[in-house]
Amino acid sequence: MEATPNPVKVLEVCRVAPPPSSPDSAVPTSLPLIFFDLFWVRFPPVQRIFFFETSHSTTTFLDTVLPKLKHSLSLTLQHYLVLAGNLTWPPDSYKPIIQYVEGDDAVSLTIAESKADFYHLSSYSFREVKEIHHFLPQFLSSDTRAPLMTLQITLFPNKGFSISYATHHAALDGKIVALFLHSWASICRRGEDSTLTPEETPFYDRSLIKDPGDHERTYVNFLLNLNGPNNKSLLIWDLKPPTDIMLGTFQLTRANIENIKKRVKTQWQEKQKTEPAIHVSSFTIASAYVWVCLVKAKKISAGKVHLGFSVDCRARLEPPIPSTYFGNCVTGRLVDADSNDLIGEDGVATAVKAICEAIEGLKDGAVQEVQLSKMLSIDRNRLFTIGGSPRFELYNTDFGWGRPRKVEMTSIDKSGAFSLSDCRDGNGGLEIGIVLKKHETEAFASLFASGLEVH
Ligand SMILES: *[C@@H]1O[C@H](CO)[C@@H](O)[C@H](O)[C@H]1NC(C)=O
Ligand SMILES: *[C@@H]1O[C@H](CO)[C@@H](O)[C@H](O)[C@H]1NC(C)=O
Repeated sequence: MEATPNPVKVLEVCRVAPPPSSPDSAVPTSLPLIFFDLFWVRFPPVQRIFFFETSHSTTTFLDTVLPKLKHSLSLTLQHYLVLAGNLTWPPDSYKPIIQYVEGDDAVSLTIAESKADFYHLSSYSFREVKEIHHFLPQFLSSDTRAPLMTLQITLFPNKGFSISYATHHAALDGKIVALFLHSWASICRRGEDSTLTPEETPFYDRSLIKDPGDHERTYVNFLLNLNGPNNKSLLIWDLKPPTDIMLGTFQLTRANIENIKKRVKTQWQEKQKTEPAIHVSSFTIASAYVWVCLVKAKKISAGKVHLGFSVDCRARLEPPIPSTYFGNCVTGRLVDADSNDLIGEDGVATAVKAICEAIEGLKDGAVQEVQLSKMLSIDRNRLFTIGGSPRFELYNTDFGWGRPRKVEMTSIDKSGAFSLSDCRDGNGGLEIGIVLKKHETEAFASLFASGLEVH
């Protein structure tokens, strides 16, 4: 990547720790990884950036806004002690653990200021990924440790500020990141009151999750053998985003989604002669629609293409576990289709059916086969994946200065995924984050728009 002048001036790199704990705290300081977590040990962190529009001057921001954000972060961390710790793999441990050591550990928070164009950065048009990278926190791992969370807050004087994070997916999945952010925002809004309601309180009991298939051993062996026998390295993969890629945001309104759904059902009846009796969610419609547009825009040659995505299993386990279970509780689904079928006239209908069937396959409650090696063996140009979920309701993250102007999942630049989230307008629509090479952006934008005009 060519160097661009850095538009960000770092004011301070601080470390924010939870307040000293009470001795009878029910919040654990150490957690073993389980098989759901082990999948993610070497993956790059998940990163998002939130832009908030406010008119604070630098002085007001540093004197009043920043202290509130820092103090509430510390108060929130007392419910999430491990987030201030590290992922490690002690020599005498069969598997990696996450651990917080009081007095030693804290979350790294970078405070910065920038004169870059706030409105451009937080817009919906295609922007260069490298422009946005300056506003994301560093996340440095080594063979022996990796942080669980790092943060950056950047002020754009008189325009707004951004809060960005990087989190280690081996420690927590998107649902818990969202829970953490909502709690942090709510404690920040309320001031001193740092209590959480039961619906907000993370649940730490890992013994409820059974591993009937001995998936843990499979993952541990996979990790140990990645770089020579018995190598306990925790270094995250340095997946470099392709150069010249751009990040854009698209919206599907409620009405768009309903229209696509109607068209899909008609095509199932008329062309495919079957109408599967399955629930078709907005998630499925949006995923199918975007997948088809991407396959067309990238001019993928004939042959198999794949769509991988995660499904939250908290409510699907037997018996179900609380929705606030801290950690990972997602299973991967992989859908295969022929690119020629997807670019055909009823491509979206074909994609919807395939995605629905993959989700239906989970009905039996069992956690599915480990698909890691299959995922890793697929040609990355033919694999599409989905990050995020509208259920995280990230636009409801209000620290006291209003809803975000923009929420962006930036880590899709490395995985080539597209992201899904709720909409800024909160009207039941969806926002979709897309990364594409520069020369593919126009084709995608026009395919996306023209597909919505068909009735
Ligand atoms: C966690 O990592 C930080 C940063 O490298 C380090 O200062 C701290 O001592 C580590 N904690 C443990 C328990 O290793
Ligand atoms: C373990 O793997 C890492 C790369 O992840 C490598 O840097 C390191 O040298 C390896 N250690 C041994 C003992 O082979």
